[in-house]
Amino acid sequence: MENFIFQNPTRITFGKGAENQVGHEVLPYAKKILLHYGGGSIKKTGLYQKVISSLKEAGIEFIELSGVQPNPRLSLVHEGIKICREQRIQLVLAVGGGSVIDSAKAIGAGVPYSGDVWDFYTGKAVPKETLPVGTILTIPAAGSEASNSAVITNEDGWFKRGLTSDLIYPKFSILNPELAFTLPKHQVACGVSDIMAHLMERYFTNTPNVELTDRLCESTLKTIINNAPLVLEQPDNYDAWAEVMWGGTVAHNNLLNTGRTGDWASHDIEHELSGIYDVAHGAGLAVIFPAWMKYVYQHDLNRFVQYAVRVWNVENSFRTPERTALEGIRRLENFYHSMGLATDLKGIGIDDNRLEEMASKCTNSGHSTVGNFVKLGQGDVLQILKLSGINTAKK
Ligand code: NZQ
Ligand code: ZN
Repeated sequence: MENFIFQNPTRITFGKGAENQVGHEVLPYAKKILLHYGGGSIKKTGLYQKVISSLKEAGIEFIELSGVQPNPRLSLVHEGIKICREQRIQLVLAVGGGSVIDSAKAIGAGVPYSGDVWDFYTGKAVPKETLPVGTILTIPAAGSEASNSAVITNEDGWFKRGLTSDLIYPKFSILNPELAFTLPKHQVACGVSDIMAHLMERYFTNTPNVELTDRLCESTLKTIINNAPLVLEQPDNYDAWAEVMWGGTVAHNNLLNTGRTGDWASHDIEHELSGIYDVAHGAGLAVIFPAWMKYVYQHDLNRFVQYAVRVWNVENSFRTPERTALEGIRRLENFYHSMGLATDLKGIGIDDNRLEEMASKCTNSGHSTVGNFVKLGQGDVLQILKLSGINTAKK
């Protein structure tokens, strides 16, 4: 196990009706806030009314900025920064999914910074301070509600890039599984795919002697695999949603990568897909992750056998270790299919015209590598993108 420091400062309020507490959660930080949300789902579901009632009851003034798109855009972040400065906003409240939360985090980081907030995404600058951010989560997926990262798309060149800083952990996050009941099935599947990817990115490591975090990743994966079909079939199954929602937070709040180095190549490659083609992040991951696995599994066959046996219940004696490992990957693909997700580029509407461009962007024109389990250069990324075009799983 590697040395580590673990501190996750986000206060979680979890359970039925938790959103009605938002006024009290905000009060220690602010009397005037930016209420930030997406394309309107919170108005349709009635959550918006509950939020403003609670804020009014607590005497909190709010200015609204809606319109966050999935794969959130830099231009709206700039607009939010301007509003916060002009209106002397003290906290940004994100009500929505990972896109709204990431947009709120970027606004928070940009307000006290004199340059362009995009500097934090290119590595030109690091945040020194930020406005506090609070969240009400409406979709278990990105894990942004308790993560130290925020992913934004710059429309100028369609670069989708992440900022990681311990300053941007939300101060508080409100998680009520009931808020997920209204999710369309495709969004549920994309969210589940993202949660699983966060666990698998951490799982595929070269760090030896990490049994506790291996087993925590495996048990969280199994919990998600068991409960995802339930929430898809029974959208108002509170208990199943509670497992998925808390699983989504635990998958990405950095507890499960304590003492180990995760991979993250699949995320870096996927961000090129969703940056250029605007597909849902989880849909892109269902395509890239199996292809990545097929490309790298021989690097540590034992780890892939362990994954197949412990997560997917593949019998250890499944002919040979290699066949056992490949059977684990096949079961993952079939699980994606069972949720209605495609595992090839064509299935998400992407042809092979821009694979070279994506491989180049992802590796900084071949000057850098992605991934830690196996370090991948531009040529490797291109091979993985080519493998992603082929749907090999059999039902
Ligand atoms: O915009 P509205 O109208 O709210 O609709 C949203 C949106 O269209 C809808 N939705 C959300 N909750 C709903 C609902 N519809 C009905 N009922 C509800 N309860 O779902 C759609 C998708 O929302 P979005 O926020 O985009 O989803 P998600 O949470 O999957 O976030 C994806 C973004 O997070 C980034 C991704 O790259 C992507 O940009 N990520 C952020 C991470 C982080 N900050 O730690 C880590 C992840 O790896 C990921 O990269
Ligand atoms: Zn993700």
